[in-house]
Amino acid sequence: MSIHTEVKRLTIPQLMAYKGQKKIASLTSYSAPFARLLDTHLDMILIGDSTAMVGYALPDTLSFTTDQIAAHVAAVVRSTRRACILADMPFGSYQGSLEQAFTNAAKMLSAGAAGVKLEGGAALAPVTQYLVERGVPVMAHVGLMPQYVNVMGGFKAQGMSEEAAERVFQDALAHERAGAFGLLLEGTAEGLARRITEAVSIPTIGIGASPHCDGQVLVTEDILGLSGGGIPRFAKQFGDVAAVIDQAVADYARSVRDGSFPTLDHCFGVKK
Ligand code: KIV
Repeated sequence: MSIHTEVKRLTIPQLMAYKGQKKIASLTSYSAPFARLLDTHLDMILIGDSTAMVGYALPDTLSFTTDQIAAHVAAVVRSTRRACILADMPFGSYQGSLEQAFTNAAKMLSAGAAGVKLEGGAALAPVTQYLVERGVPVMAHVGLMPQYVNVMGGFKAQGMSEEAAERVFQDALAHERAGAFGLLLEGTAEGLARRITEAVSIPTIGIGASPHCDGQVLVTEDILGLSGGGIPRFAKQFGDVAAVIDQAVADYARSVRDGSFPTLDHCFGVKK
């Protein structure tokens, strides 16, 4: 008899059932060491295209590719057992045609993701529908959409006027009707995020949105003090991991330079 207790990965239907019952706690992760640490605490891990900026020091997310994200997805999947894994669809991987969207979304599911997230307003709702009808769960990302930085003229909060708020509201409803399992609301006016959360039957995950959302997501490096510089107003630093790393690396470098590391204990073929 096996004493091994199998940990079941949270499924998308289970996350959907959290709505109105339990908040969904989510963070981004791109690598095995972080994913291992996050897994026990979180309901969902997002392999976001923010990897481009956070992990690769790129100025925006636009040049990141499906294959790059899929490689990070596979690393996170291999290092986790419990959290539901969601993969971002990068810029240019789903806007070209429905077939292109399916081909690239399928790569994310092949890498082990349970579903994908895609940015876009109501005009992209047919993509959501096409993917969902073919077995790809979709979270639609509306409000501030970093892939639209050139259209928006910067990373700006959305829905500040009544007219703009109505547009984002309709975007959210269009994706819900198209079959999205959830909505990611980024950088939106608080009242708008609350209104969307109350209006839809699927979970909303906020980032710079509203405490009334059904869950929250942040970039892990922001909460750990690893972003190198300031963090966005909507984020909060919950720990200072940079200080811990700084101390450890300084101790290592000093030990190498003063000869206290390595000792013979760290060598092979030494008779004790
Ligand atoms: O790419 C990403 O990490 C995201 C989150 C910031 C929501 O989309």
